[in-house]
Amino acid sequence: MFKNRLKHPVFGLVAEATAETGLSAYVVGGWVRDLILGRASKDIDIVVEGSGIELAGLIAQKLGKPHKLVVYKKFGTAMLKADGWEIEFVGARKESYRSDSRKPIVEDGTFEQDISRRDFTINAMAISLNSSNFGELIDLHNGMSDLEKKAIRTPLEPDVTYSDDPLRMMRAIRFAAQLNFNIDCESFEAISRNAKRISIVSIERVMDEFNKIMLSPYPGKGIKMLRSAGLLKEFFPELDAMQGVEVVEGKAHKDNFFHTIKVLENLCENSDNLWLRWAALLHDIGKPRTRQFDAKVGWTFHGHEFVGSKMVPRIFKKLRLPLDDKMKYVQKLVLLHLRPIVLSETIVTDSAVRRLLFEAGDDIDDLMTLCEADITSARQEKVQRYLDNFKMVREKLAEIEEKDRLRNWQPPVSGEDIMETFGLKPCKEVGAIKTAIREAILDGIIPNNREEALQFMMKEGKKLGLQPLHSPN
Ligand code: CTP
Repeated sequence: MFKNRLKHPVFGLVAEATAETGLSAYVVGGWVRDLILGRASKDIDIVVEGSGIELAGLIAQKLGKPHKLVVYKKFGTAMLKADGWEIEFVGARKESYRSDSRKPIVEDGTFEQDISRRDFTINAMAISLNSSNFGELIDLHNGMSDLEKKAIRTPLEPDVTYSDDPLRMMRAIRFAAQLNFNIDCESFEAISRNAKRISIVSIERVMDEFNKIMLSPYPGKGIKMLRSAGLLKEFFPELDAMQGVEVVEGKAHKDNFFHTIKVLENLCENSDNLWLRWAALLHDIGKPRTRQFDAKVGWTFHGHEFVGSKMVPRIFKKLRLPLDDKMKYVQKLVLLHLRPIVLSETIVTDSAVRRLLFEAGDDIDDLMTLCEADITSARQEKVQRYLDNFKMVREKLAEIEEKDRLRNWQPPVSGEDIMETFGLKPCKEVGAIKTAIREAILDGIIPNNREEALQFMMKEGKKLGLQPLHSPN
């Protein structure tokens, strides 16, 4: 019995209204699942045998406190918002589907019909709000036992449930990744059989689920499931293509897909930033296209960071991900992901550290987090050696940053300064002097300050045969 856990005043008011009107009402779906799992939620769905709009209107009248009621006549639903809660009322319905669309033909139905058209048994439980059996759990498809078994299973034949609404294939894997559940064998086989039908779902909806997987506690588990069910190649073939190992002359390269998953998992321990997780997912995306076998050195992936970073805008565009600074951030991290490793393997010069700070700017800490996650050797002493080296790189970065302030570097001498001093209009000499000043600062030839940069500008101008109109100021 869940009587004592139905604390929101709306539940009591619904019970009152059912007694008065003879309507039946149930709280259903995700809210019930989350209540049992102990995950708080303010998003409530109430199914009414009869008119959801009528019941919502009655409750709004009874509520007697500030609220907002929005009625969607066309869909037969009403949304009541009060105290930060969102309560949706909908009439019980039965749905039938056509093969070319996930939009069902909806007709009024019974509570049982409504419940069994739902996606998973764990989402198909209800709690009665009727005055006669208020708080009673109605579990027609053994959702409780599946919650205990941590199993994702469909109430109907899985082929029917997934073929009706192919987005549910993504949802199954998303719940598995969020809750660390397993997908029932028959269900998983049905997903594999129906994978191609994901094409009738808009890419925006697919990616909405994909990003929930990315943000979940177990994104690696989810993405591996997407691949093995054959869904990944339908909407993200570039990631799917990372899987596989080729052997030439007895030499194999590592499987880039499983390596990527490991990096993502390592990263997730230290960051819940979605776009940093995306950078981990895409850091080696250029590898399949740059893979070559060299008889002397074995497998190489030269330039995969450049090729990969070039692929990022196209992938983001195709997957309808944002094309703004989030994409640029991912692109930059993909491009720079080898640089700290190179720094840690050689004797670090100040100049190399300055250049990295200059290019990474404020994203330097995220870049270091990504690189540390990229160490996936099975040999613990090797991992430790790299981590120790990275610690040194981090120290060096902090030291140089304090001295030279190169994060988000602004040129201490502007193009206007140069034009004004030498009486120039915009021309290539102005650009050449600007570049020379930047390079001199990055190489440590002059310090990062205006006075020294102005002196340097005068020397560079002279080299180009320019006459200053006045001394620099
Ligand atoms: N549902 C379904 N098929 C879908 C989407 C939803 O059967 N493709 C049903 C499920 O019973 C689900 C309910 O509608 O529990 C509410 O859907 P939604 O709010 O999208 O999901 P939740 O289960 O509440 O989970 P979350 O809030 O995490 O998305």
